[in-house]
Amino acid sequence: MATYLVTGASGGIGCEYCRQLKERGDEVIAACRSSSPDLDKLGVRVETGVDITSDAAVRGLAARLAGQPLDVLINNAGVLQSIPLDHLDFDSIRHQFEVNAIGTLRLTQALLPNLSEGSKLILMTSRMGSIGDNTSGGSYGYRMSKVAMSMAGKSLS
Ligand SMILES: NC(=O)c1ccc[n+]([C@@H]2O[C@H](COP(=O)([O-])OP(=O)(O)OC[C@H]3O[C@@H](n4cnc5c(N)ncnc54)[C@H](OP(=O)(O)O)[C@@H]3O)[C@@H](O)[C@H]2O)c1
Repeated sequence: MATYLVTGASGGIGCEYCRQLKERGDEVIAACRSSSPDLDKLGVRVETGVDITSDAAVRGLAARLAGQPLDVLINNAGVLQSIPLDHLDFDSIRHQFEVNAIGTLRLTQALLPNLSEGSKLILMTSRMGSIGDNTSGGSYGYRMSKVAMSMAGKSLS
């Protein structure tokens, strides 16, 4: 049995990670901005108020988890806003960097004391974050921010 922390756990893939991990007997800490009925019914530990773009929110989570060893940290929280080149919205692009790249690094750095030799760190990229796979273009903010996140992962490794 391992202890997992999953970000962006209120719905989508994050909630499904929590469901499957709990089902197979792992310990799950579900971090989210606010919980959801789907997450609540899993019966896992839920940590709310975890907006990964907020220093204070992430510091608060780290304080609540002080001394709690983590075997696996799954950085799942992310945001996708697709806007075409002729309608570029730089605030949207900036926001996607804030969440996908900077937020992921912020959360990871704050929880480094909870990781130890052998712990695993997972960053949720996407095929849209692959330069080699980009045959369709578009989605500037999402693609760019996921590449930046991957580079953070490489440095962390
Ligand atoms: N779905 C796919 O096909 C696909 C493919 C490749 C990669 N991915 C990646 O997989 C991950 C999950 O995707 P998904 O499809 O499950 O998306 P989703 O249903 O939109 O879930 C994204 C999660 O991220 C959370 N989030 C957004 N902004 C946040 C912030 N500032 N602080 C903390 N949490 C925040 C959301 O929380 P709220 O509920 O509070 O908004 C939500 O729980 C993402 O990183 C995504 O890029 C998805």
